[in-house]
Amino acid sequence: MQIYLNGKYLDYSQALLPVDERGLQFADGIYEVVLIWGGQFVDMDRHLERFERSARGIELDMPLTASQFRSIGAELLRREPREQGALYLQVTRGVAPRDHKFPSVVTPTVIAYLKDFAIDRPMLQAGVSAVTEPDLRWLRCDIKSVSLLPNVLARQHAAARGAREAIQVRAGVGVTEGSASNVWMVHQGSVVTAPEGSWILSGITRGVVMELAHAEKLPVAERFASPEELMLMDEVFITGTTSFVTPIVEIDGRRVGDGEPGPVTLRLQELYLARLDQIAHATLG
Ligand code: PDD
Repeated sequence: MQIYLNGKYLDYSQALLPVDERGLQFADGIYEVVLIWGGQFVDMDRHLERFERSARGIELDMPLTASQFRSIGAELLRREPREQGALYLQVTRGVAPRDHKFPSVVTPTVIAYLKDFAIDRPMLQAGVSAVTEPDLRWLRCDIKSVSLLPNVLARQHAAARGAREAIQVRAGVGVTEGSASNVWMVHQGSVVTAPEGSWILSGITRGVVMELAHAEKLPVAERFASPEELMLMDEVFITGTTSFVTPIVEIDGRRVGDGEPGPVTLRLQELYLARLDQIAHATLG
């Protein structure tokens, strides 16, 4: 496995960092996960724009331009070609003796590598179960920060209860998002999802699915549903780079609707997967 680390392409065992790396000490960094589909990066521009926004959010000057990140991704894919997978990108503030405030002189650490990952079509067809968890995260969930401890705990609690995803509920706000996905609900043909802002990550998949829903003339309300409403929805689904459009058929041990993926979810899933195929073919052609 090849790792891009600070300008070099290294074997996994050679890609080493000092213990006072600020990503390790303070989770002082940001990341992106980009889908590879048909051997192409999907929506790279949108991911790199968000990466830049996250950098600004943590007051970090990006050490590389969008086109440099794109070249790194292309070089990794040239070295390790694959049809499906994901590109992981991470920038942290860098290596410096442990001190909370920013070091006066520091070079950000850049890491990039390709991850094995393949679509699970039976899961997309059958749907998965979820649990609700309190949203214990900070107040800037729009920043894609490597500080993921609350997400890790929420996902672990879901796994311990035999569920795939944790749907987070922010006290006094409502249903925000999954531990690594955005959450959508459908009630009487209307679609509901949390609004963009500091309570959720503005998912790239969310943006695409929003466009598809508009093109389908589906009414979409961007608002926070209450946890009680969540349990009364006809359909629930999650979106994300590695979850595509995945139906949620059970929440906290209770069936969603009739316990089967619903028509709105399956339609958006179909359109989303068709768009991925189109992108792969357009870039190849
Ligand atoms: N997670 N919300 C959170 C908290 C996420 O971590 C993610 C993505 C999303 C969906 O965003 P997008 O559609 O841009 O992937 C929403 C990535 C895949 C991860 O952490 O692995």
